[in-house]
Formats: sequence, structure tokens, C-alpha cells
Amino acid sequence: MQIKHFLQFKDLTRDEINYLFDRARVIKQRFKRYETYRPLVDRTLVMIFEKASTRTRLSFEAGAQQLGASAIYLNTRDSQLGRGEPVEDAAQVISRMCDLVMIRTFEQTIIERFAANSRVPVINGLTNEYHPCQILADIFTFIEHRGSITGKTVTWIGDSNNVCNTWLQAAELLDFNVHVSTPPGYEIEPERAGLFGTSHFEQFDDPMQACAGADLVTTDVWTSMGFEDENEERREAFADWCVDADMMRVARPDALFMHCLPAHRGEEVTAEVIDGPQSVVWDEAENRLHAQKALMEYLLLGRVES
Ligand code: CP
Ligand code: NVA
Repeated sequence: MQIKHFLQFKDLTRDEINYLFDRARVIKQRFKRYETYRPLVDRTLVMIFEKASTRTRLSFEAGAQQLGASAIYLNTRDSQLGRGEPVEDAAQVISRMCDLVMIRTFEQTIIERFAANSRVPVINGLTNEYHPCQILADIFTFIEHRGSITGKTVTWIGDSNNVCNTWLQAAELLDFNVHVSTPPGYEIEPERAGLFGTSHFEQFDDPMQACAGADLVTTDVWTSMGFEDENEERREAFADWCVDADMMRVARPDALFMHCLPAHRGEEVTAEVIDGPQSVVWDEAENRLHAQKALMEYLLLGRVES
């Protein structure tokens, strides 16, 4: 089987992504019934973290173990990766000793260089540019609550960051619309988002206008990991881009609220919204586990019938 990587959302086809949603549903149902399902016995996942994580580490490590595989955690501090070993050399060595690699790092080019030298599939666990596993889980969550996302409107409020870029790629692949409202100076860069055109998103100066008629309102931290030096100036610039009850009121009455977490209540979202009835953030976080189990199974075994 040819090696497939998941470095950006558009690395998989629409058909493959839809297959993953179907598999995630089956795998989740089995998990909820406490059924043992171990198709990845004797396989090893290596997880490389150059940034902090709770959900990504936990969902990959628990998910690998539940599928019968083992998971090894490496970070920059305790490995030679933090002491200047070339990414290409690390990829050659690590991929000879394991079956699958997940990386959380800074620039997308790092994960691309790793993948180009890897004998095994590589998964993006977040880079400065993208967070494809997050959006896989988010859309799976939307489908569970509201059915197909095709033709729907997703509103992104705040920073045009890695999670926003990935929503935009997903919109092109799965044919839905994204309304984006960012403060001036923080607008989307279509090229950085890896888009083909602008037909699946619209930019709004006013966050209230962006939320009008939305099926889903979503946001993320004002300052992503790696950009901490900009924290103070971002706090000022983003002050009006806090998802609140007024924004949710102009969205559709059945609109959902999502946040990839961790969240800062009182900054990008009010406590009333994130802890309110339209919020599905805990389902969203749990679904990282099920969606990534489907992804790992697919990258290692291809399509399965069982
Ligand atoms: N959403 C997400 O990726 O969370 P962590 O940073 O905790 O992994
Ligand atoms: N945009 C955030 C997401 C964290 C899961 C970051 O990159 O820090």
C-alpha cells in the first residue's frame, strides 16, 4: 500500500474524509458498548511534541492503546530533536522503528520535511498553519448533532490561525461556507491557508454580521502557541471579537457553538456561551479520540469492512 500522510486536511479526498466519518461512528459505537477492537496489535505509534498538549496527546495515546497498538511519547526537551538533530535524520531513524508518527510542531515545513523522509505515515497533530485532526473531530461532531455539513454556514470569530485555516480547507473539500471575522491586521491569508480560491469563505469586519444565520459559531484563543510575545497587543486588538450571547442570538436558533480548547472564558468566548446549551465542546473534545482512531486505522490498514 502506498504511504498516505495527513499533513493538511486536503491530503485526503472528500470520499476518504466521508469514509473516516463513517468509521469514527462505528468505532465510537463499539467503544461505548465496551467491545474490544484491536486491529493494530503489535503496531507502534510515535508521538513527537514540540508544543504543549492535553487533548491531542491523550486522544492519540489512548486511541492507539484501545486499538491494540502501543504509543511512545517524545518531546523536544528530552530527545535529540531539541539539540539540533536534522529533521530528515530523525525521520529516517524514527520511521524505521515504528509504524505511524504524529507530530505537533511549529512551521508546516518541518512536518513536510519529516514526511518526505519517513517510511511510515505521518499525521499533523498541529502546526502553526494547520490542525487537521481537530477539524476532522469538529465536523464529525457537527454531523452527529445536525447531519451533513454540506451547504451549511460555519462562522469563525477571532484569529485567522491554524484551526481557522483548516476550517477553510475543509469547506472547499466538503462544500460548505465559512464566514470569517477577524480584527484588522489579522485577516486570512488564502495562500497560507492552502486554498484554491475564495468561493467558500467570506470576510466580515463586523463579527455580528458574520454570525447572522450561522449553523455553527466557533472560535479559538487570541494567541496561539508560539506567538506568546504578541499576547498584550492581541488582547487589545481582539477585545470586540468575544463570542457572546448577542452573537449566538443572531445565528440560527439551532446553531451550535464549538471551541477546540483550551478556552479562555472572558476573552474569545463568554462563560455563558461556552457553558450554555448550544455549546458542544465536550462532545467535540471526546470526538478527537474516535475520529483519530478511524484515521490511524485507515492510514495503516486502508478501508476495512468490519
Ligand atoms: N485542541 C487541542 O488540540 O488541544 P491540546 O492542545 O490540549 O492538544
Ligand atoms: N490555535 C491554538 C490551538 C490549540 C489547540 C494554538 O495553536 O495554540
